[in-house]
Amino acid sequence: MSKRLPLLSDLIIEKGDKVFVRIDCNVPLSDSGEIEDDFRLTSVLQTLKYIKDAGGIAIIAGAIGRPKGKFNEGLVTQAIAGYFRKNLYSDTGCMYLYENEDFGSQGDVQEEIGELEPGEAFVLQNLRFREEEESNDNNFAKQLASLADYYVNDAFGQSHRNQASICAITKYLPSYAGFCLAREVEALENVLENGKDPVVAIIGGAKVSDKMKVIEKLLDRCDKVIIGGGMGYTFMKSQGAEIGNSLCEDEYLDVAKEWFATGKIVIPSDWVVADDINSTDTQIVDTILPSQSGFDIGPKSIKTFGEIINSANTILWNGPMGVFEKEQFATGTIEIANIVANASAYTVVGGGDSVSAIRQYNLENKIDHVSTGGGATLEYIEQGTLVGVDALLD
Ligand code: 3PG
Repeated sequence: MSKRLPLLSDLIIEKGDKVFVRIDCNVPLSDSGEIEDDFRLTSVLQTLKYIKDAGGIAIIAGAIGRPKGKFNEGLVTQAIAGYFRKNLYSDTGCMYLYENEDFGSQGDVQEEIGELEPGEAFVLQNLRFREEEESNDNNFAKQLASLADYYVNDAFGQSHRNQASICAITKYLPSYAGFCLAREVEALENVLENGKDPVVAIIGGAKVSDKMKVIEKLLDRCDKVIIGGGMGYTFMKSQGAEIGNSLCEDEYLDVAKEWFATGKIVIPSDWVVADDINSTDTQIVDTILPSQSGFDIGPKSIKTFGEIINSANTILWNGPMGVFEKEQFATGTIEIANIVANASAYTVVGGGDSVSAIRQYNLENKIDHVSTGGGATLEYIEQGTLVGVDALLD
């Protein structure tokens, strides 16, 4: 990305100015509506505090799940409002209306927002309860824009979505990137454009098909691309190795072979295998038998991967090394998480599962940047930008 993003820190907020802040509040909620992981919410506190400290009024808006234009009791933003009330607005106030599907060019929402005092906030209902959000509808965007004086996008994790509160709204308000969005873009640029060589990517996860374009991009950019997780078995099979009943996408064998020819791909040399995913009767093997399936990388692979990781100046990690939700197959991911965290290189970790691993093992503070994005991070690697970022540049 060559143009400079307009940043929230460029904006001088006057007391009482209203700022529409689009966040990614797509957080896991329990059956009783409790927030199970607040990472995406803590990540936007800096932006909201900046607005609050200047006496601005934040109109906080986001989308949870995929309700497809219909009200869904399990996806309301009530808990999000509660979170911000407790963690930032306890001394001022953070309003929320449960019965709110108008998003207020008129009616209750507009009225409530009109009564807010400097430093207060309002959390809108889940934007995807209106189908116009996902269709990037101009009138809906205008309606949202009418609630505020400025627009801030701090929703990196959803900025790959061409939706009204991400894209169309930027036509109707002076628009800026919040601190979370700006940090995310800077971190990825630090790897993809400005990273100091050698650059090493570690890619895991179940399927080659999910990360096909990402791997292609990374092969252009990186000195080595380490492959672990379920997708590793397709790479092994492409080299003629026996993989037993392990996961494999046969339609990607040819492309995996081509990628090998670059000399940059590194795959595991041993595995933790079992007869099935629920079995705790595991073995570490160099050769997988026809009756076995691989579910994690073994100690020799961890050592080799570690040496390559420790020789890098820039590291990007996306995707677990095995089925780390199961204790018996978690070692590879835990060990790689620790190696990345203790590396002296510049480190970026992205993608839901690898980020969960880093957070589960309390390693966040040892990583230069932990991304809030899932699909958005992958799309940024593929395209070097996102529609929501481009909308701010236009
Ligand atoms: C995510 O969880 O990766 C983001 O919030 C994107 O959600 P979406 O795929 O529903 O847009």
